[in-house]
Amino acid sequence: MRLGLAFTKFGHMKNFYVTTPIYYVNDAPHIGHSYTTVLADILTRFHKIIGYQTFFLTGTDEHGQKVQRAAAKREVSPQEHVDEYYHRFEDLWKKMDIENDFFIRTTMPEHKAYVQECLQKLWDKGEIYSKEYEGWYSVGEERFFGEDELDENKCDPISHRPVEWLKEKNYFFKMGSYQQKLIDYLESHKDWIVPDYRWNEIRGFLRQPLNDLCISRPKARLSWGIPLPFDEDYVTYVWFDALLNYVSASTAFHKTYKDGTPIWPATYHLIGKDILTTHSVYWPTMLMALDIPLPKHILAHGWWLVNGGDKMSKSAGNVVNPMDYMEKYGVDAFRYFLASAMVVGQDANFTHDGFVRRINSDLANDLGNVLNRVHRLVLNNFEGKLPAIAAPLDDAANEVITIAKRVITNVMEWVPQVKLSQVIDEIMTLVRSVNRYLEVKAPWKLAKDPALKDELATVLFVSAEAVRLSLCLLWPVIPTKAQEGLAMLGSKFTDQNDLVWGILKGGEVFGEGKPLFPRIDEEVKKPEPQQKPKQNKPLTAADVPAAMDMRVAQIKEVADHPDATSLYVLKIDAGEGELRTICSGLKNSYKAEELQDKKILLFANLKPSALRGIMSQGMLFAGDLDAEAHTCKLVSVPDDAKPGDRALFKGVAPSEPRELKVKDFEKIALSVKGGAVFCDALALEVNGKPVTCDVADGNGVH
Ligand code: MSP
Repeated sequence: MRLGLAFTKFGHMKNFYVTTPIYYVNDAPHIGHSYTTVLADILTRFHKIIGYQTFFLTGTDEHGQKVQRAAAKREVSPQEHVDEYYHRFEDLWKKMDIENDFFIRTTMPEHKAYVQECLQKLWDKGEIYSKEYEGWYSVGEERFFGEDELDENKCDPISHRPVEWLKEKNYFFKMGSYQQKLIDYLESHKDWIVPDYRWNEIRGFLRQPLNDLCISRPKARLSWGIPLPFDEDYVTYVWFDALLNYVSASTAFHKTYKDGTPIWPATYHLIGKDILTTHSVYWPTMLMALDIPLPKHILAHGWWLVNGGDKMSKSAGNVVNPMDYMEKYGVDAFRYFLASAMVVGQDANFTHDGFVRRINSDLANDLGNVLNRVHRLVLNNFEGKLPAIAAPLDDAANEVITIAKRVITNVMEWVPQVKLSQVIDEIMTLVRSVNRYLEVKAPWKLAKDPALKDELATVLFVSAEAVRLSLCLLWPVIPTKAQEGLAMLGSKFTDQNDLVWGILKGGEVFGEGKPLFPRIDEEVKKPEPQQKPKQNKPLTAADVPAAMDMRVAQIKEVADHPDATSLYVLKIDAGEGELRTICSGLKNSYKAEELQDKKILLFANLKPSALRGIMSQGMLFAGDLDAEAHTCKLVSVPDDAKPGDRALFKGVAPSEPRELKVKDFEKIALSVKGGAVFCDALALEVNGKPVTCDVADGNGVH
């Protein structure tokens, strides 16, 4: 089968228009900005290779108080300031191999004219009105504060400068009148906001009355903005200007897909979770008032955290500079890390050691090894020319081919669902399957016996083709290194037609070999078994599901507890090479050999406790089988889950990391319904698939 382009049922090409937030031009780009942009770039490239026509928009947000102030400080005009500063983003994206189709700046005349056109339209329709507003105004913070927000000295709570009573006319957009329409839209589009727990958050927000939105600032206070077309003494509020960039790129700049189709509506707005309300409440109501269709989806990703729980920010001085990493370790290693280390939606902790470990294990070891082995063996035994299959395919070879075909199918299915880290994991399972195949077939031994040359040829052919396919599939993530690796195999990646088994034919002349990702030779610590937990306020039963850190783990060693007849001492792989010791009362239920290599679900942030002298770092989940015999059945995770994958209750956003006590866990009850594990109505899932347990319905899970 050869792949073609992706078409809709009406025969049109399938489209993918993705946007990043437009970044505040004043900020120095950091890893948080790089993440969204790399995510957009990789998703665009993945859609391209599965046959979509794509458009990728990014840019800078250039109006507002901060810009005006920074320019004044540098004694340049705001325009000069932004003309100089936006390059920091544009340059970084070039260095990171970002292939955006357009870079929009909100100071571009076309965008400004479009914003004014929209404001005029809303004014003419009566969707905007003016009103006097009175309140406590802080000159330091340049905004109004409620009486109850002020400190005891009548100062604002942020800059602690005195506030003054101010009466001011402003313009308001009738956002509140769209509340019901937005609720109806959300209810009929449950996948409009991804992940689902962010949908819940917005649905919850809309249970409170929705206020109208102040969309103006008097020019006397802020001059660096787009003037209101119906009142020259005012400029528009920065979000009203910024959000419209997503449509103005299409309408005012006439950007289209290659076949001429307009790019709006966007397929995905990628945003950080901190700007969810502006994108899922302000933005859709603005569009409804303007009679413009809504974007198809909003995807809110989590934050990169540092020190086990702090948000990265300039003021905290803990910012990771992407440039440093790329210069030292290469662009593709950095792209790979960003894309694979964060499960889209959840927060991820950035540590230097975690970076080194991931690059060394996935890229230097797994991918690098398999490529070098195949390359070297073909060079040494077939004069650098790939042999064709010469012996019948055995089970081991067929297994590699089956995995390769499964991976292609899954990538096709998961890319449109933007399950990026899962897509990458899936491709890496193919890479690892080739390494296993090589271990089993030991071609270096076959090479010593001339009678086995045909078998050697077959092993090398199958391996080379699987590595070729892996590199083609990884091209969206590591575009330069993937092509370099393919050149070593006498191949290259051109388009989606290369994404099938059987492109190499034999006879390909291998290119020069070099380590694609040299091992990073730095001493790194093993991951901390448990991040320093923050001790927050006590948990209520309603908080517990979000606070539980449950992860897939795999049992590596099983030993009897020296001092307790019912306990095993297990060594488990909790993901990213983290080994933990768990004492578990499974002896009545499982023989040691039944547990070896078994995947289990670990309760990872349970306070460690000593069980008869041995520290147990967490607990395992199991359903009750027979209360009298004290037997149980371990819960099962989906087949494709890997150590480290997080289990979440459907629709519940994980909360900040913290340590839980057994008595916290006892506030809730887990039980089995229809074979799946639930906490009341909340289903427990790993990567969107249910966690199951083979015990009778209604039985508890402990
Ligand atoms: N200008 C607005 C967006 C307007 S879009 C119409 C803005 N800009 S920003 O530069 O402050 O932030 C841009 C994005 O970077 C946001 O999505 C924000 O969540 C993201 N990040 C900033 N710090 C982050 C991390 N530490 N981790 C991940 N992303 C975070 O908001």
